[in-house]
Formats: sequence, C-alpha cells, structure tokens
Amino acid sequence: MKSKTPSESRTVTTDLILPSETNHLNHLFGGALLAKMDRAAYITARRHSRRIAVTASVNHVAFNTAIPLGSVVTIEANVSRAFTTSMEVFIDVFIEDRISGERTKANEAIYTFVAVDDTMTPVKVPEITPETELEKSRYEAALRRKQLSLVLAGKMKPQEAVELKSIFEIE
Ligand SMILES: CC(C)(COP(=O)(O)OP(=O)(O)OC[C@H]1O[C@@H](n2cnc3c(N)ncnc32)[C@H](O)[C@@H]1OP(=O)(O)O)[C@@H](O)C(=O)NCCC(=O)NCCS
Repeated sequence: MKSKTPSESRTVTTDLILPSETNHLNHLFGGALLAKMDRAAYITARRHSRRIAVTASVNHVAFNTAIPLGSVVTIEANVSRAFTTSMEVFIDVFIEDRISGERTKANEAIYTFVAVDDTMTPVKVPEITPETELEKSRYEAALRRKQLSLVLAGKMKPQEAVELKSIFEIE
C-alpha cells in the first residue's frame, strides 16, 4: 500500500456559531465542538484510508479559549500518524478576528480512528509520511500517545509501553 502525506487527506471546515449551539454564557457548547471536530476528523480518516472509519478513542481535548456566539470557526484535521489499522488525527481549531481577519488557535484535540470493513473488522491503512516540521514532531510523539491511550483503556500493560515509559525515566 502506497504511503500518503497528511496534505492528501487534510480536511478544513469553516462554520458560523449560532445560538442553537451555545451555552448560557453565549459560548460554543463543548459537546457541539466535540461533534464538529469528530466530523472533520472522520472525513480525514476516511480520505486517508478510503475505508469506513470509526472513532476508537478521544485521546486529548484542550478547550483553551471560549468561542463566542457569532464566531467564525475553522477546524483543520490532519492524520498525524497511521499505524496498522488505526490512525491518529490531530485537530486544530481557530477563530478569526472579525475586523482584521487574523486567525487565533482556540482549541485542539486528538482522536483515534480505526478503518473497518463491512463486518466492523479492522483493516490495514496506508502509512503516512510527514513533511513539515510540525507534522514530523506530531508523528514522532504519536506512538507514545497511542500507548498511553491503550494503557488507560486497559488494552496494554504499562510495562509493555516502552516508548511511553522512556519519557518518565529521569537520569
Ligand atoms: C474501534 C474498534 C473497531 C476496535 O476494535 P478492537 O477489537 O479493539 O480491535 P483491535 O484490538 O484489533 O484494535 C484495532 C486498532 O485500534 C487500536 N485501538 C483500539 N482501542 C484503542 C484506544 N482506546 N486507543 C488507541 N488505539 C486503540 C489498536 O491499537 C489497533 O491499532 P493498530 O491496528 O493500528 O495497531 C472497536 O472497539 C469498535 O468497533 N468500537 C466502536 C466504535 C464506534 O462505534 N465509535 C463511535 C461511533 S463512530
């Protein structure tokens, strides 16, 4: 299977935040943002694998900045690493200033998708070749994140998480 680059499956969505999606503080409701990120990340995983993909895990979400009603929100989803049947998708969320148009990063998240066939059996996905410095650093750290996710899910023994353990070993 031919390796692909993140740009081949990158997904960018832009949306206007309306009252139906906000909480009592007039900020975007966290659950609504999770759904928007899941959608963009799913499209990315599907484009990379050309298969049905299911969300296996939400590994990390950081709601760093509240997103006010009326914001224009851009979500960018990239495959940061592909393993055997799973793909880590990194999601960056930006808001833009109404006057200057300047983009500010508001939130980020990391989801794991698994490519499956019609019987929900996991199937192999193409490898990914990172190109930019950011893509390379996210690729490098992805194996540790996968091990952490599997340990937390009870699917891997902590002592088997070799790459993850190495970052806690202080000389
Ligand atoms: C996702 C799912 C197919 C995985 O099934 P499974 O029996 O754990 O399959 P496997 O053990 O073969 O794992 C498949 C891959 O998922 C990875 N994986 C499974 N659970 C994971 C987790 N919590 N975190 C990170 N990766 C995980 C495995 O490491 C493996 O990756 P690899 O093949 O790239 O090494 C299954 O749990 C499922 O169908 N879940 C429901 C999905 C769903 O309904 N999502 C929400 C709606 S889309």
